Amino acid sequence: MDKVRIGVIGVTGRGGIAIHWQNDPYGRAEVVGGADISQERLEQFKARVNAAAFVTTDYRRLLERDDIDAIAVTSPDFTHEEYAVAALEAGKHVFCEKPLAITTAGCDRILNAWHRSGKHLMVGFNMRYMNMFRVMKEIADSGVIGEIKAVWVRHFVGMGGDFYYHDWHGSRANTTSLLLQKGSHDIDMIHWITGHYTRRVAAFGSLDFFGGDKPNDLRCPTCPENRTCTEALFGPRTQCCFRQEIDVEDNNVMIMELDNGIKAAYLQCHFTPDYHRNYTFIGTEGRLENSEPEMKVWVKTRVSNTWRELADRTYDIKKAVGGHGGADPVICADFLDMILEGKEPVATPIAGRMSVAAGCAGAESLRSGGRPVDVLPLPDWAR
Ligand SMILES: NC(=O)c1ccc[n+]([C@@H]2O[C@H](COP(=O)([O-])OP(=O)(O)OC[C@H]3O[C@@H](n4cnc5c(N)ncnc54)[C@H](O)[C@@H]3O)[C@@H](O)[C@H]2O)c1
Repeated sequence: MDKVRIGVIGVTGRGGIAIHWQNDPYGRAEVVGGADISQERLEQFKARVNAAAFVTTDYRRLLERDDIDAIAVTSPDFTHEEYAVAALEAGKHVFCEKPLAITTAGCDRILNAWHRSGKHLMVGFNMRYMNMFRVMKEIADSGVIGEIKAVWVRHFVGMGGDFYYHDWHGSRANTTSLLLQKGSHDIDMIHWITGHYTRRVAAFGSLDFFGGDKPNDLRCPTCPENRTCTEALFGPRTQCCFRQEIDVEDNNVMIMELDNGIKAAYLQCHFTPDYHRNYTFIGTEGRLENSEPEMKVWVKTRVSNTWRELADRTYDIKKAVGGHGGADPVICADFLDMILEGKEPVATPIAGRMSVAAGCAGAESLRSGGRPVDVLPLPDWAR
């Protein structure tokens, strides 16, 4: 095979990455089909990506086609398990967006289908392809900060709840928890950069700002309070963020013990005025930290456990072109390398499963008074 023919399920929103396959600079892919619940969005997809693409509102019609080698699942979280399993069982390679599924058991069903199928699977962990986090991983792997013992992550999720409280993300039925929705990337960064998975967590969390008693069908454009409401939105996501059905916590604190004893903490808040992620890795010989607003990574090293410091190093992270800090075209290229060259992807399905499993354990803990919860182990064949 020298060209991968791709079908996309969930064609707008995140499905927009299809353009990177259609425009692959080496012509190694063609986006030949799309499935979505919205005919209007299917038409937008044809206009934007490929006018000749086959489109359908029944994803099974896409999976039946012999002229499709691979499926990208870029629809909402609660659909991933059904679509990824069905695609693998139909003999397709699969790119599945994060979180891999909304339960650990759901992830394991995907992994088992993958194992049985002999096809390729990868997960949409595009942070693994961002310059900043690649640099941090290389520094950690170089050993310059010694053995990592502690990780602290502060995640400021600002933007007035735009991405998480004005649409389907706000319900447990759709996402389980924002610890594994939004946080699956960050839990994965902790796993990837340290090289260790989480074995036990405890968490506290609550709904402190969003949610409330507004009707579930209230929308910002027609809301009588939309001129004074600080959170009113008029873009694609317009459901009221103070509606009754919202039940996923907007303020989460999770502590984690990794399988080699590393202690990690992940702090996530959805009503900050700003948007960024601040990571610190502390090793036996130094400390690594990033600043997204400044596009910098610092390494502080020391020669002894005293005040005697010799020098710090500052890394200026290069800007890259493309969505999510240049990561989206690169992760799409990795998907093609996996299928065409047999390359192991940087964003592995096992990693996808382990971050969801840690997030699910965190959700269980915070909803049961903060008691420690063990992360469910991988299926035997995958350990
Ligand atoms: N890796 C990343 O950086 C990143 C970024 C954004 C979103 N995502 C992931 O992508 C997925 C989609 O998120 P989004 O914000 O684009 O969502 P969205 O609500 O914009 O939906 C995406 C598309 O899926 C379609 N869709 C909705 N329900 C469907 C169904 N039942 N079957 C088929 N299609 C359906 C929608 O019509 C839309 O075209 C989520 O799982 C999210 O976590 C990942």
